[in-house]
Amino acid sequence: MIISSVVVYKLQNDTINQTLNNIMSSMKIAIACDHAGLELKENIKALLLKFGINTLDYGTEDNCSVDYPDYGERVSDAVSSGEIERGILICGTGLGMSIVANKFPGVRATLCHNPLTARMGRLHNDSNVLVLGAKIIDDEIAAEIVKIWLETPFEGQRHSRRLEKISIIETKLNEGNKE
Ligand code: RB5
Repeated sequence: MIISSVVVYKLQNDTINQTLNNIMSSMKIAIACDHAGLELKENIKALLLKFGINTLDYGTEDNCSVDYPDYGERVSDAVSSGEIERGILICGTGLGMSIVANKFPGVRATLCHNPLTARMGRLHNDSNVLVLGAKIIDDEIAAEIVKIWLETPFEGQRHSRRLEKISIIETKLNEGNKE
């Protein structure tokens, strides 16, 4: 009984790792944080490297106090322009980075605190930027969230219609700004 559970676990793990490898071979991911998120950023980079993912690091590099909008902008701009497919942003609570990221057209940033929000953010919101609060979650939960966010597909169907409505709002606001 124990042996079969171990085998099932190993098979599940192999499948997850294979799925991750497939996703990652074609995907560019950038990561950035402020001073509050530095340690978690380094841990997540190491985790992604274990999955064979070479993350583009957009800073910050040390513990000096910085302003999260500067770092949120770098990743969000790259996702918005299509230069990279996905981004990960980390600050103390995840709130500031979320506010910044969702200003950018085409960015769907989801602040995730647990496996459920990570899963739903992909299934229903087609999240392309994962936001984490380093003061809110521990390393273990963060790793779980990142893994789920990477391997969960977008469900499409009625959710595509809803995302389309968000794009229409973005376009309307953008046109309003030009007038
Ligand atoms: C920085 O002190 C802190 O405000 C920032 O990391 C973040 O939590 C903002 O939302």
